[in-house]
Amino acid sequence: MKRQISLLTLATTALFVLSFVMISSCTKTGPEGPSGKDGEDGLNADASCVKCHDFSDDLLTKVHQFANSAHGSGANVDRSAVGCAQCHTSQGFRLMVDSGQIAAVTSPAIINCRTCHKIHETYSPADYALRGSGAVAMVMGGPAAQYNYGTSNTCANCHQGRAVTPYPVAGGDPVQITNKRYGPHYGPQANMFIGKGAYEIAGPMPYSNSPHTQAVTNGCVTCHMDGAPVGLKAGGHQMSITYNGTSKLLTGCTVSGCHTDAAVVKSMFDANRAEIAALELELETELKAMGLLDVEGYVAVPATLTQDQLGIILNLKLVHYDHSYGAHNYRYTKALLVNSLDALAKMGV
Ligand code: HEC
Ligand code: HEC
Ligand code: HEC
Ligand code: HEC
Ligand code: HEC
Repeated sequence: MKRQISLLTLATTALFVLSFVMISSCTKTGPEGPSGKDGEDGLNADASCVKCHDFSDDLLTKVHQFANSAHGSGANVDRSAVGCAQCHTSQGFRLMVDSGQIAAVTSPAIINCRTCHKIHETYSPADYALRGSGAVAMVMGGPAAQYNYGTSNTCANCHQGRAVTPYPVAGGDPVQITNKRYGPHYGPQANMFIGKGAYEIAGPMPYSNSPHTQAVTNGCVTCHMDGAPVGLKAGGHQMSITYNGTSKLLTGCTVSGCHTDAAVVKSMFDANRAEIAALELELETELKAMGLLDVEGYVAVPATLTQDQLGIILNLKLVHYDHSYGAHNYRYTKALLVNSLDALAKMGV
């Protein structure tokens, strides 16, 4: 259905352009009147519209990839209240990045071409410019936390943690927690990538970032929008890495200047993933055994927690909702898990 709509959209445009051409060639004969004033130059359809509405396979492919994506599913577009609309609706996002406003949206549109691109603002190919393309000052992680990775800055506006209250402060008094969903929300990938926003509890491992932080200059886009997409299931404007349940699109890793051997990358990826998944499970299991999390993994509320306990829960949630099992920032993720486990063992609750 979605795909049909996109094709219709393009077909409508073709009709529009065509009828414009037909109407202008259909004139009546009669006595000639006085010449009128020159009108303003109109938009030349050939020169402007058709540069994008060109029916190329390349553009259609992007439209279809997008229609088959999580963004294109519109799954959470009803999250249009104030505080949610800026990441879950097209208009809310544009309000935030174009005018700095955060507001509720009525009749929300799902994330679409216009959300990320400036479609139909000048009716020229320059409209493919990205919105929210400047460096992103992060909500979480303190005033110095900034995400600045080229074309993926657009992504980081949404794929970052929300304000966490109370935010744990080392040495502070114990706090009462009443919200079982305490944590940074679902998509803190940008925080994980730059290694900012977690509770850096001391322990056996130093906190450092993966070389990705230095080497992958277009961040998310380099790996997730790689030009070698798996049909409509991953890569390109579909944007997933994971497809068919467990397969991974790793072609973005072997571009020149990065890793060179696909087989080596795959085995390194598998080994790191298994290690991080095991550490994450160990930490979650331990927090449940201590009664700090309930059986479903929510905070066992109401709870009075020390700042370290709260910070460790925050760390687990950040790693969990990042969903990359170390791919975004292996060293930082591992240090958070190892040091949190070490601190819990010393608490001996
Ligand atoms: C920057 C490239 C670009 C240019 C230039 C452009 N369009 Fe579009 N247009 C798009 C995209 C992308 C869509 C959304 C396609 C989709 O969602 O399937 C769209 C959608 C449309 C639609 C469908 C209705 C809508 O708004 O979604 C019409 C009609 C249309 N364009 C007409 C035009 C006309 C007429 C011009 C020239 C005056 C033009 N476009 C110039 C990219 C462009
Ligand atoms: C800073 C941007 C941002 C804000 C603000 C935000 N979300 Fe989200 N939300 C996301 C992103 C990004 C995802 C998808 C993350 C992923 O899949 O890793 C998401 C996912 C979700 C999901 C789907 C979870 C799932 O497992 O499928 C729900 C439900 C949701 N958000 C609800 C809300 C509600 C309710 C609010 C407002 C109280 C809100 N969000 C505010 C960015 C945001
Ligand atoms: C979630 C954000 C997002 C959405 C939604 C999105 N795009 Fe893009 N698009 C991007 C990014 C980021 C790039 C740049 C990729 C790169 O650097 O390789 C891009 C690149 C493009 C390009 C190449 C532009 C150029 O200057 O060469 C085209 C064409 C394009 N998108 C079309 C579309 C169309 C059509 C849609 C809707 C079906 C769409 N995009 C939806 C983020 C988005
Ligand atoms: C307007 C906010 C917004 C922007 C901008 C955005 N995303 Fe998303 N993204 C979301 C939300 C919300 C979801 C969850 C699906 C939904 O509800 O639409 C999501 C889902 C995803 C998913 C699928 C997650 C899953 O669990 O399957 C991937 C991958 C993703 N985004 C990558 C990107 C990349 C890469 C960019 C930049 C090119 C980007 N996103 C830009 C809000 C955004
Ligand atoms: C160095 C490459 C790389 C970069 C950069 C990167 N990702 Fe990922 N991402 C991955 C890999 C690999 C996975 C799959 C991890 C797994 O399942 O083991 C993943 C998983 C995800 C997922 C879970 C859904 C899926 O497709 O598996 C989301 C959502 C996501 N990344 C979003 C982002 C966003 C947003 C950014 C930018 C802030 C980003 N990623 C930057 C490689 C990358």
